[in-house]
Amino acid sequence: MQVLNTINAIRSEIHERKSAATVVGLVPTMGALHRGHLEIVRRAVAKNGVVVVSIFVNPTQFNDKSDLESYPRDLIKDLSLLSDISPDILVFAPDVKEMYSDGLVSDQYEFNGLDQQMEGRYRPGHFQGVATVVEKLLNIVRPDVAYFGKKDYQQLLIIKSLVKQCRIPVQIVGCSIVREASGLALSSRNDRLTKRLRQEASFIYHSLKAAKVQFGMKSAASVVKWIENQFADHPDLDLEYIVIADELNLKPVVRKIKGKKYRAFIAVYAEGIRLIDNVALN
Ligand code: PAJ
Repeated sequence: MQVLNTINAIRSEIHERKSAATVVGLVPTMGALHRGHLEIVRRAVAKNGVVVVSIFVNPTQFNDKSDLESYPRDLIKDLSLLSDISPDILVFAPDVKEMYSDGLVSDQYEFNGLDQQMEGRYRPGHFQGVATVVEKLLNIVRPDVAYFGKKDYQQLLIIKSLVKQCRIPVQIVGCSIVREASGLALSSRNDRLTKRLRQEASFIYHSLKAAKVQFGMKSAASVVKWIENQFADHPDLDLEYIVIADELNLKPVVRKIKGKKYRAFIAVYAEGIRLIDNVALN
């Protein structure tokens, strides 16, 4: 398993391995890898001649300093999980100075409202930070394909908008959400939950599934109200938001329109730990 820490080193290693016909895939991560990440890596390995997994906890996307400080980091374990998939994976693990040599600031992008709702509303500056680091990673690795999870669906749409507006020649692939047996979406944050609450937190996914059934029969507003009531009665889970939105532009639905695709997006606090999830409703 080769681990490269500098931009020059990863560029020259890719150059060395790449022939004209080789397809390069990139899987950006912040480490603390779990099955959700590893499924994406497996998919990339199956399809690309060279696969780069980046591991970088990006400071500019954390609006909460303590969240950044407590973010789990375990490079040794991550490398062992990746080498079980393929010893040929290139790991790009730069430090903050390497990625932000001009200072720790985000570039500013216009996402036409995509970044205004949900995560953007509750985590100011988050998506400008995500876009900044992803643009850097795409420019460093120059992949043909880059993979992102639908667990962060809003992020996926923002990255698609980023590559379009910056005219970066890369295909962006969205990968399905991987869940625990209980239904809880896998997240690096789940390890911080107590055993009891980790089980309780499956309530989030089960509520979304029930919302999907109701969405076939009821208005979006009444489904939202129903979810809010479910959580109001729950002693351990605090609902931050539930939004039903058009899955292409993330505009909250006012009235359902035939032929349009909708998704429900949710953020919940459990023991102070923030969990997000989403499901397709139709
Ligand atoms: P991170 O949270 O480490 O996630 C890396 C990738 O794994 C993201 O594309 C995310 O959507 C995906 N992912 C995480 N949990 C998943 C799950 N349960 N099922 C499917 N995919 C899952 O997202 C980031 O890092 C950062 O914002 C990053 C894009 C690396 C930029 O810093």
